[in-house]
Amino acid sequence: MKITVINGTEKHGITYKLKEIFLDELRGDADITEFYLPRDCPEFCAGCTVCFLHDEHKCKDAEYVQAIEKTMLEADLLVFTSPAYVFHATGAMKAMLDHFGYRWMPHRPAKEMFGKRAVIITQCLGAGGKSAAKDIKHSLSWWGISAIKTCSFKLMSDVKWERIPEKKRAKMMDKLVRTAREMRAVDYTRPAATSLMTKAKFYIVRKMQAGLGKEDPEYTDYKYWKKNGWLDKVRPWKES
Ligand SMILES: Cc1cc2nc3c(=O)[nH]c(=O)nc-3n(C[C@H](O)[C@H](O)[C@H](O)COP(=O)(O)O)c2cc1C
Repeated sequence: MKITVINGTEKHGITYKLKEIFLDELRGDADITEFYLPRDCPEFCAGCTVCFLHDEHKCKDAEYVQAIEKTMLEADLLVFTSPAYVFHATGAMKAMLDHFGYRWMPHRPAKEMFGKRAVIITQCLGAGGKSAAKDIKHSLSWWGISAIKTCSFKLMSDVKWERIPEKKRAKMMDKLVRTAREMRAVDYTRPAATSLMTKAKFYIVRKMQAGLGKEDPEYTDYKYWKKNGWLDKVRPWKES
């Protein structure tokens, strides 16, 4: 089983500790690749739109973005982590997700994403962990992923692991271990089921792409949808 982890902070703090507890349950069977942000995707999207309009490989940051993308596409399980910073995912995480705007459904989603599983781990001191997870989930769901699990925690105590009350630590560990075991039990030879919501998004965009193609048959996203056969009978998910 291949796992790709995108860490929204380089700090070896609470978020890191929670992620390690989760991964420790999977290590024996898993080939794990980890990215740490901002180190592994240190630049901001400049808004040039070259990825949307022409080719993602022409992005000034393609070396970082494509290295992450390749590993994500090959993975069975994607893990995203972030502390809440002012009620949201870290700026480093947002900066990375911006680079994948071209993979949103209205543009050129990767068919591999439709069958993938993902886990999002976030924490906060008192409030904001859930909205931080939502920031990440928003991108993943628009990339086409339906099977997304969230582990979001409120520390309500100190920001040093050892100073968090034992009962609180045990509760967080229990949730992470149970989620990891659930992910370990998955049969990764079968793609995850695609939800009705994902399919609805697909069909709305499909209609939009057909219209755009009539106006301009050379439009990059239209050509991508057409090449994949999505404007005909082919779908990025397996029909069961
Ligand atoms: C810049 C910054 C903003 C934060 N904003 C929030 C917040 O909005 N809500 C909250 O409950 N905790 C907030 N925190 C606390 C973090 O979510 C987190 O609990 C703390 O940084 C410990 O996690 P870490 O060791 O992984 O960094 C913030 C921390 C930082 C550094």
